Amino acid sequence: MKLIITKDYEEMSKKAYTEFSSIINKIEEPKIGFATGSTPIGFYKEIVNSYQKNGVSYENLKAYNLDEYIGLNQDNQHRYNYFLNHHIFNKINVKKENIDIILDNNNPILMECDRYSDILSKNPLDVQILGLGANGHVGFNEPGTKFNSKTRVVELNEVTIKDNSRLFSNIDEVPKHAITVGITDILNAKNIILLASGINKSEAVKKMIAGEISELCPASYLQNHNNVTVIIDQEAASKL
Ligand code: F6R
Repeated sequence: MKLIITKDYEEMSKKAYTEFSSIINKIEEPKIGFATGSTPIGFYKEIVNSYQKNGVSYENLKAYNLDEYIGLNQDNQHRYNYFLNHHIFNKINVKKENIDIILDNNNPILMECDRYSDILSKNPLDVQILGLGANGHVGFNEPGTKFNSKTRVVELNEVTIKDNSRLFSNIDEVPKHAITVGITDILNAKNIILLASGINKSEAVKKMIAGEISELCPASYLQNHNNVTVIIDQEAASKL
């Protein structure tokens, strides 16, 4: 793992953009898997700025995502497709037909899991962007997830439901199930950029980087990948 520790969230976001662009600049049609959550928002702003202020084109970019809640209406603003449209896709020149978001269609859920696993194994992403759960999850691969897990329906655990309830008006509104890209599918990506910020991620960061590879901390499976760049701020790095 390549580890980059930055002084704060802003520097983490800028560094993420530098790392990201140095990879995708060399690729004609880069395939990118986008995470949601609070952590990558600053990084996505950097991507938007690069387009709006510096004219960087994302015309050939192919966009995928990492996970989606089950049970929310298509127009619900908590859906991750809403998040990605709002923070990034509507603000850069990515072509609509190049965006393939999980469950943003009428496919039955199980068919959608197989379809996504198939895409990610046959056409590996150039970059998978990840955040990190305080309990060590990546995507919605919660503690207990097996190494060989594929894209599938999962039950969210209590820690995640509680963490994510900050974005809903009350905890009962947080869906209990989601689709997540599996660990095998994540590890199929050619490059992985993982971001983490804040003291509440410090324990998970420590287990991910310095702990044993274990289903208790699914992020530790990333130790098995050759091209992972972990970009974290000082607070997130404080237990290393
Ligand atoms: C989001 C995702 C999650 C988040 C993680 C951290 O697509 O897959 O694994 O990356 O829960 O969330 P934040 O960034 O909100 O702390």
